[in-house]
Amino acid sequence: MKYIAEPFKIKMVEPIRMTTREYREQTIKDAFYNGFSLRAEDVYIDLQTDSGTGAMSHTQWAGIMVGDESYSGARSYFHLMEATKEIFGYAYNQPVHQGRAAEKVLFPALTKPGQYWLSNTFFDTTRGHVGLAGGRPIDLVCAEGLDTTTYADFKGNADVRAMRTFINTHGVENIAGIVMTITNNTVGGQPVSVANMREVRELADYYGLLIVIDAARFAENAMFVKQREVEFRTSTITDITRETFSYGDIYALSAKKDAIVNMGGLIGVRDDEEIVEKIKANVIPFEGYLTYGGLAGRDIEALAIGLKEGLNEDYLAYRLGQSQYLAGLFDEAGIPYQTPVGGHGVFIDAGKLLPHIPWYQFPGHALAIELYIEAGIRACDIGSLLMDRDPVTGEPQQAASEFTRLAIPRRVYTQAHLDVVADALKSIKARAEQVPGYEITWEPRVLRHFTAHLQPVKH
Ligand SMILES: Cc1ncc(COP(=O)(O)O)c(C=O)c1O
Repeated sequence: MKYIAEPFKIKMVEPIRMTTREYREQTIKDAFYNGFSLRAEDVYIDLQTDSGTGAMSHTQWAGIMVGDESYSGARSYFHLMEATKEIFGYAYNQPVHQGRAAEKVLFPALTKPGQYWLSNTFFDTTRGHVGLAGGRPIDLVCAEGLDTTTYADFKGNADVRAMRTFINTHGVENIAGIVMTITNNTVGGQPVSVANMREVRELADYYGLLIVIDAARFAENAMFVKQREVEFRTSTITDITRETFSYGDIYALSAKKDAIVNMGGLIGVRDDEEIVEKIKANVIPFEGYLTYGGLAGRDIEALAIGLKEGLNEDYLAYRLGQSQYLAGLFDEAGIPYQTPVGGHGVFIDAGKLLPHIPWYQFPGHALAIELYIEAGIRACDIGSLLMDRDPVTGEPQQAASEFTRLAIPRRVYTQAHLDVVADALKSIKARAEQVPGYEITWEPRVLRHFTAHLQPVKH
């Protein structure tokens, strides 16, 4: 796989440093074997997340300087409204401080206690907020999404037939709605086709259900659609985005991904005044006045600019190309990952690489810790540690796959950094059977992977 050269040049640098293995062994122990508790300065290459870790452009930084900090009706807010209307085509757009703020505002307004939400797969914060609102999140991804070794163009798709069966079995009055996550982060940043969005829309219309698009990586999804869905080969990314969003009723968007800002989020409503009023009623107490929604004026200005930059096709080709390059190195080394590689990074199939570690000792987490000890690389579990306990029974839940996610921040690391990552994984693969599983020694009630304490399991 050829590396697609960066469609930008570097104007500012931030030094990073390599530490010794002994230092990292002690540091990760002191952090209770949870990468979130490390000091970032002790990390060499940080692939923990692509969220809020991107490099803003000179145009965005210029926007920071001219951001309007008025409490209400700021100029920057109107710039953002112009951008959101043009890109998504929804009547109402609401800034909030990040994706989970959108979820906190939305789900209590749309959920009756005990109702189910169906999804092509919930991201953990979305799952958490559905639970906190008294709802029950159900993942119904297509069968290909769960098979990490076979190629399929759109592994992020929903299993529409399974959704229909679920609705018929449980009664439509017990369903709050459908969440479509694009790209589908939890199954590996896998894209959702426009055809699947259309089918889900038909299903929702038949039963009179709402569709919420969890749109964090909407631009990467649109680029995949352009590359893989014949109907859209000559469409622009904006046209594909417009069409995708036309099949939803509401969107919740973490702007820390495809809008390439360090902080920000959005909620959009296509045309439902009643829902807009509910959203406004929650935004003001939780996020602040409607025209700033928990953000500084300068953040809003950078967001308005970043939303458009994130749609540039040269950028998106390079962006998807980075994951494809890293995946190509793993192919050469026989390291299993969710195939084909997704948009925002490579999801190593830790369940396959470390078959001696059972799901309840978190293979995805074990590999992430080993990568840190090996080369100062920070990654994270997208597997059974990320799954919270069942909100009703309190039982641990087994994830469909045990991934270690190597998320690539936008416009931050170079080809040489990716080579270092591949070399580290090759060394670990050579001594895979020595990697220990982990057990939890303390955990909070929801979103446990952020703060849980763990220790290696001794045999
Ligand atoms: C699909 C998806 N939805 C929602 C969120 C939550 O967004 P935030 O981290 O901005 O709260 C994320 C974050 O990673 C995500 O990937």
